[in-house]
Amino acid sequence: MKRILFVDDESKILDGIRRALHGDRKRWDLQFAVGGEAALQACEAGSFDVVISDMRMPGMDGATLLGHIRDRFPSTARIILSGYSEGASATRAVPVAHRFISKPCDAAELQATIERVCTLQDVLCTPDIRRIVGTVGELPSLSGVYTSLLQAVNNPSTSIREVAEILGHDMAMSAKVLQLVNSAFFGLAQTVTSLLSAAGFLGMETIKNLALVSETFRVFVPDSRIPPSFFESIQKHGETTAVIAAALPVDAKTRDVAVVSALLHDIGRLVLASKMPDQFCAVLSRASERGCQGFEAEEELLGTSHAEIGAYLLGLWGIPHLAVEAIAHHHRPTRISHNGFEGSVVLYVADLLARESEAHPQDSTGSKLNESDRTCLETLGILSQLAEFRRLGFEAQQKSQPPVSPPSRRAAASGHNA
Ligand SMILES: [Fe+2]
Ligand SMILES: [Fe+2]
Repeated sequence: MKRILFVDDESKILDGIRRALHGDRKRWDLQFAVGGEAALQACEAGSFDVVISDMRMPGMDGATLLGHIRDRFPSTARIILSGYSEGASATRAVPVAHRFISKPCDAAELQATIERVCTLQDVLCTPDIRRIVGTVGELPSLSGVYTSLLQAVNNPSTSIREVAEILGHDMAMSAKVLQLVNSAFFGLAQTVTSLLSAAGFLGMETIKNLALVSETFRVFVPDSRIPPSFFESIQKHGETTAVIAAALPVDAKTRDVAVVSALLHDIGRLVLASKMPDQFCAVLSRASERGCQGFEAEEELLGTSHAEIGAYLLGLWGIPHLAVEAIAHHHRPTRISHNGFEGSVVLYVADLLARESEAHPQDSTGSKLNESDRTCLETLGILSQLAEFRRLGFEAQQKSQPPVSPPSRRAAASGHNA
């Protein structure tokens, strides 16, 4: 049974939550703490899967509490409840909270958020993931520049100028970040040539996430048995998926998460290609023998897929929790309930359309959907919108600079179908 801790300085509010979630007491062990100190004591006494804290509390506020929980109980999911009026102070919780729920919130929203967080924990904590991460051995470490960037962004007093200066120490990373900033998915009106203005336009968090894109493609280099074009095709596919994701009808916040997750969504394939090349070659052969998708062959042979492996790693490396979730479910978005067209659904659709366009670059009408995608789109209730999504994605690719080129024959031979 999942253990969930609610924290508020007002016991009346906790009583309200207890009553609202009364029906869930058989599936969740619900505990309540009045104030941050009591919450930390409860965590010491027995670990929790999820902690949901109010932001504004006298003494230790929600951001401080979740910071302690992050340091002492890193596997606990951290959610902050904050009211509209707390705007500025709630930004202090950005580095420490996995999720935000705005107050007042109803029982259904609380339940849905807890369910999703618990599903993600379950999907990423399977014996198969642990076995693979164990087999991979020591994961490559991230560069000092990225680590400093992560620390700087996590510190509320850091200025945009400091972030730009840290990034400026790594030429390759800076160049990649500027290339991504100027890509079609951010739709900036003018070309941005300095890191300072890039950070000013897009915010420190997005710049840090783009640096991670560059970092991930640097630390994972496929084994010599994998065609070199595979590496290129994964990067290209991520960028095409990001262009399409940004063109889909979503709000600006969802779009930023969708772009980051699109750029990184197949990183698990790179992990397999560089760290488990024999098994990865077996996956490619199985997928082409069966005519199935890569992730299905991975599930069959490895017990899990690149979606969960990538999400697990990127979670350790500090990408936003919503992006981790989108990546973890990008081939199986029906595993969780959705609040409209968001997260893993947007990524799933963008990936599907990117693969369509890579297979038939000049065809905007789309290839025939396979049965499992049709069923998935039907379950998500968006099958009838696919033609419109396809049109938006196709137009965005036409407009994007440089134009998306058809895959080379070598790239096609590398079996990119994830
Ligand atoms: Fe994938
Ligand atoms: Fe993909």
